Amino acid sequence: MNDAGTPRHPEQSDPRCQSAEPADTGRSGATPIVSGDGTRVLTAGGMPGGQGTPLVPSPVFASTYVLHGEPAGPYQYGRLTNPTWTAWEAALADLEGGPAIAFASGIAAVTAVLATTLRPGDTMLMASDCYYATRRLAEEFLSDFGVVTRWAPTGPEMAAQVAGARLVWIESPSNPGLDVCDIAELARRCRDEGALLAVDNTTATPLGQQPLLLGADFSVASDTKAMTGHSDIVLGHVACRTGELAERIRGWRNSTGAIPGPFETWLAHRSLATLDLRLARQADNARELAAMLAAHPAVRRVRYPWLPSDPAYPLAVRQMRRPGGLVSFELAGAAEAEAFLGALRLVTVATSFGGVHSTAERRARWGGDDVPPGFIRFSCGCEDAADLLADVEQALARLR
Ligand SMILES: Cc1ncc(COP(=O)(O)O)c(C=O)c1O
Repeated sequence: MNDAGTPRHPEQSDPRCQSAEPADTGRSGATPIVSGDGTRVLTAGGMPGGQGTPLVPSPVFASTYVLHGEPAGPYQYGRLTNPTWTAWEAALADLEGGPAIAFASGIAAVTAVLATTLRPGDTMLMASDCYYATRRLAEEFLSDFGVVTRWAPTGPEMAAQVAGARLVWIESPSNPGLDVCDIAELARRCRDEGALLAVDNTTATPLGQQPLLLGADFSVASDTKAMTGHSDIVLGHVACRTGELAERIRGWRNSTGAIPGPFETWLAHRSLATLDLRLARQADNARELAAMLAAHPAVRRVRYPWLPSDPAYPLAVRQMRRPGGLVSFELAGAAEAEAFLGALRLVTVATSFGGVHSTAERRARWGGDDVPPGFIRFSCGCEDAADLLADVEQALARLR
């Protein structure tokens, strides 16, 4: 643990807003050239290599610190700060382009933005097709606190409804419909109207898209998905356009205790090193799968923003840095979709997405999304494309 830093006393500086500095690696010399995503994920948060320090930051589990006399140093109590978070948040901040705060889950990160920006009597404009648990927060909790939510589908219709809103909430590409919203255009509109813009960037990851650089105030993510990509942890984060917004978010985390476990945080940091490789393979698979599905007689409609025939293609190519691994498509009905899923041998039927294993599910089974009964969200993993396509082909063939 790096114990250097500005001495702080809980009564002198509000510990709810305390942020720790990344560990000093002791490395000196010229700054390395970092241009490609493969290098970016390996060097995000700073170069390793200080004498006697681990190459990859280790988990630090302590929750109670020895403090004699005046507390000094950035780490004093485990609910407020932890060196493992510091290293992970420094990496996130580099990739996002703004200060980042890690949370226990994606929905804890979502909640932090909603709770710190909205007050009774405020209006929020939220994408009507965003993640259902986010919508549920607005419908079932915020409404009780006097926040009014206005709804509009992901896309150009949102900009027309910004006036009067305190916060605008979008996902792009949206989950599960994979619609895309012009973030820069919406951010301009929000600035003109005095609204804050939050983008749930879960499906894209910060390698796929940097909402803060497009003008958003918050970039929010469930790091349970492609960001960490092994289907073995639940985690989230918020990145902010300004230090002031970040302090409010950090203060919320300190007050509510929605903190990530050090081990999960370390696993996430460890997984970050392969994000570029995983995304590349997942996107290659998604592109091939989407093209195959689009030509298949049993498939009614395919959505993949990087398929040239997709309505979102021109905007996705202009706005995003690179493609992702999610594809959605529609079969004739619930029975056909269930038969297809049941016939898959390599692909696992599971909820969640973004992992190295391909997974698929019929979203209407949950009842929370406004999708047709035969709608399937397919998350491409890192299998070989030929094997993945062969599995999908044989499962579709059963429908004839
Ligand atoms: C777009 C999106 N945002 C937020 C969440 C919530 O994340 P978590 O499950 O990590 O709490 C999810 C979860 O599926 C999601 O898909």
